[in-house]
Amino acid sequence: MRELTWDKTLSVDVPEIDEDHRRLVDLYNILNHAVAEGESPEYIAALTDELIACTVWHFRHEERLMLKHAYDGLAEHKAEHDDLIASAEALQQKLQQQGKSVSHQEVEFLEQWLVGHIFGADMKMGAYLCETM
Ligand SMILES: [Fe+2]
Repeated sequence: MRELTWDKTLSVDVPEIDEDHRRLVDLYNILNHAVAEGESPEYIAALTDELIACTVWHFRHEERLMLKHAYDGLAEHKAEHDDLIASAEALQQKLQQQGKSVSHQEVEFLEQWLVGHIFGADMKMGAYLCETM
């Protein structure tokens, strides 16, 4: 199991966004451990709910900052957020219906998405915001 570590390379140079990202990385690691250690489906479901709720909250936070500072990439960035929320909710529903736990592949998908999004869309947004804010 690979632990995600938040370091300077993940910084988008906007402290309040970095703070959210650290929290998401922490939660991701807790989920990853729980899956590797075979925790109960109820516990994994609670963690997944928490991770999704935090992610939704964090996306709204970024979107508010982009709106406030008139970032012209807002629509495109928000579309990426909406896509992830839709797939995370679909996964959550599937797990609820089938009473199954999250698989390693699903955890990996979340990791790749999170890191890919931070290195892509979030870095672009951060570069704009840290000059404008
Ligand atoms: Fe984002």
